[in-house]
Amino acid sequence: MMMVCTSVPHESAPLHVTGRAPYTDDIPEPAGTLHAALGLSPLAHGRLISIDLERLRAQPGVVAVLTADDVPAENNIGPLAHDDPILAHGELRYLGQPVFAVIATTRDAARRAAALAPQVIQAEALPARLNALEAHAAGEYVVPPMHLARGDATGALARAPLRLQGEWQLGGQEQFYLEGQISFAMPQEGGTALLLHCSTQHPSEMQQLVAHALGWGSHRISVQCRRMGGGFGGKESQSAAFACVASIAALRLGHPVKLRVDRDDDFLITGRRHPFHYRWDVGFDADGRILAAEVDLISNAGHSADLSAPVMARALCHFDNAYWLPNLSLHGYSARTHTQSNTAFRGFGGPQGALAIEMILDSVARRLRLDPLLVRERNFYAQGQDITPYGQRVQELHAQSLAKRLSYSSHYAERRAEIAAFNARSPVLKRGIAFTPVKFGISFNVAFLNQAGALVHVYADGSVLVNHGGTEMGQGINTKVAQVVAHELGVPLSSVRCSATDTAKVANTSATAASTGADLNGKAAQAAAQVIKARLTSLASEKLGSARVSFVNGVVHGNGRNMPFSELVRLAYLRRIQLWSDGFYTTPGLSWDKDKLQGHPFYYYAWGGAVVEAVVDTLTGETRILQADLLHDVGASLNPAIDIGQIEGGFVQGLGWLTSEELVWDTQGRLRTHAPSTYKIPTANDCPPVLKVELFGAANSADTIHRSKAVGEPPLLLAFAGLLAIKDACAACGPIGCDPPLTAPATPEAVLRAIDSVAV
Ligand code: MTE
Ligand code: HPA
Ligand code: MOS
Repeated sequence: MMMVCTSVPHESAPLHVTGRAPYTDDIPEPAGTLHAALGLSPLAHGRLISIDLERLRAQPGVVAVLTADDVPAENNIGPLAHDDPILAHGELRYLGQPVFAVIATTRDAARRAAALAPQVIQAEALPARLNALEAHAAGEYVVPPMHLARGDATGALARAPLRLQGEWQLGGQEQFYLEGQISFAMPQEGGTALLLHCSTQHPSEMQQLVAHALGWGSHRISVQCRRMGGGFGGKESQSAAFACVASIAALRLGHPVKLRVDRDDDFLITGRRHPFHYRWDVGFDADGRILAAEVDLISNAGHSADLSAPVMARALCHFDNAYWLPNLSLHGYSARTHTQSNTAFRGFGGPQGALAIEMILDSVARRLRLDPLLVRERNFYAQGQDITPYGQRVQELHAQSLAKRLSYSSHYAERRAEIAAFNARSPVLKRGIAFTPVKFGISFNVAFLNQAGALVHVYADGSVLVNHGGTEMGQGINTKVAQVVAHELGVPLSSVRCSATDTAKVANTSATAASTGADLNGKAAQAAAQVIKARLTSLASEKLGSARVSFVNGVVHGNGRNMPFSELVRLAYLRRIQLWSDGFYTTPGLSWDKDKLQGHPFYYYAWGGAVVEAVVDTLTGETRILQADLLHDVGASLNPAIDIGQIEGGFVQGLGWLTSEELVWDTQGRLRTHAPSTYKIPTANDCPPVLKVELFGAANSADTIHRSKAVGEPPLLLAFAGLLAIKDACAACGPIGCDPPLTAPATPEAVLRAIDSVAV
């Protein structure tokens, strides 16, 4: 029986649906456990003068109050630049920044004391910069500007027969993992070692940052994560503040300390998807072929660098999306503002890069009064026009066939005609339709991160335990890795189990991110299993009297005879054959010049396409997505059921970003949308009533694990078609060829503004 390419349920599905899957907060609290809460900066920018610690210490239940002065060694959680303090020191950099930590006997007592922050923090207010464009104008960046160029954009723009300029803005997005940030630190060995349970995508980085904060060697700290209730990039770097505070407090006090953040505080403290602003100049011909483009991409990075540099690099490397752009000049500016430090979120800048060219192509099509699908097809990468602006050849040219298959299966042309007829007779409700493609580069865009390790233990009874460096956040990595190992050893899936991620088992792991989790850890686990299988094969050949043996569903066959896998393993144990192994994998062929932004940063691309239809109420601005037809490329899927779930989830999460999730800061820099009451993520009701998902079905031409492709992030970009369908509906309110200036998120207000500016 094939264990891969099979729709087996998520390994934790029964626990998930019965509410019995333990998350970090469910770990039983040992006697003496204390609870931490953070006191937050009441100012967007200021000079910290003093904190009334006496008053805080006098609050009921309070055991200790910690400030920056209590950090034993390095006061930093910046993952790349060392520019982000665990607790504010001297300068207050955003409203919501952790300034002190209260440790109390109960979580409630800790939170009540921490809530006194505005009263106990004495600070001098300084002028705050809240707007990325102002920061850009002042040349304030968290990392130096980045430039990606090919050909002669300036000359080609000047020579282009047609030209358009524009400006556009795109909002940020809160990860809204259902399980909030949490860390639970337990001193071990009389306070000379530490066990940290942390909801994180990056246990190794938590281990390292905690070690630096404590001034310890990493070997004294174990970080464990069995599962997260969602991460979506928000727990790649931003779990660190909580990990460090809980660890410092636990060692200082000699008690286990738990820091579970309230949702509002989670919003106020942590960063999210970078909002972007674009200024573009594009040259094209009468057929809509893009000849040249020059684009400024300005992100709001917030107060520190965090991951803003690789996010911007990915944005620049995804501006091309599925299109051949011969002359291009891109400028990426990561603006420094006095707000939360923006970070990873599903797509990691890729969506912000690719959506820019999609908006531009839409405007070009409207100017030319051509169907945007036609304009897109004319610009697709093709034979001879297959080198990206960063110098990597596009091996698989899937955009054409995706667009053909999808426009046929979704009846694009017929529905466009039908929508035009509907709009002609419907004065209030207007419908629109759009197609967008996706090409998403798979690999961390920092080459060394593309490595993974795994341990496979075959026990003497034939059962198998796998531990790998990836973390489970709901995406199904443990299911896929278990499938890979079961397949390799020819045993039923029921005899393979993945255990919690643990820095004490596999060392120096990368974050589970960039959609590479199953690709990297699947290969590493396969390598480990192959070592064991090779040892077992020798013994089986001897026992069965055959040079050729096969392992199938728990039975070993050869020479017309067979024996149970468990029996072979028992004999191997008695023969003193090692029954466990490590495995290691590095993605081959990657190179990247981070100064020139040139090279081969991606092992391969994942492709996709979406046709989406929307309806707009032109009086209220309310929108609905009526139908979505998604065709997505997951190579030869390891698990189609899980992959389809990722496609549906990514698509709907993308729709939330582009339609309803709006972040609002007031003039004081206070985030006003910090709870589900004011920040609207999509619910089951926002799922389109007709949502069809099909897998593209072509095996990966790159040698990935069983020729599958990564699926975690790319489907989020399918939601572009939802935004453009809404824009198409708005365009039905104006004259032919009008170009509604619809910004994202396309909230009812944004929709009404767009309609007002084109309506006749
Ligand atoms: N799916 C679920 N259910 N929960 C998550 O937090 N995160 C996404 C994606 N799918 C996420 C998810 C993000 S941002 C990434 S990078 C990938 O999963 C990471 O997992 P993978 O590399 O194993 O696909
Ligand atoms: N994705 C997620 N995290 C990362 C990446 C990436 O491409 N590069 C560096 N960290
Ligand atoms: Mo995903 S944004 O790479 O965690």
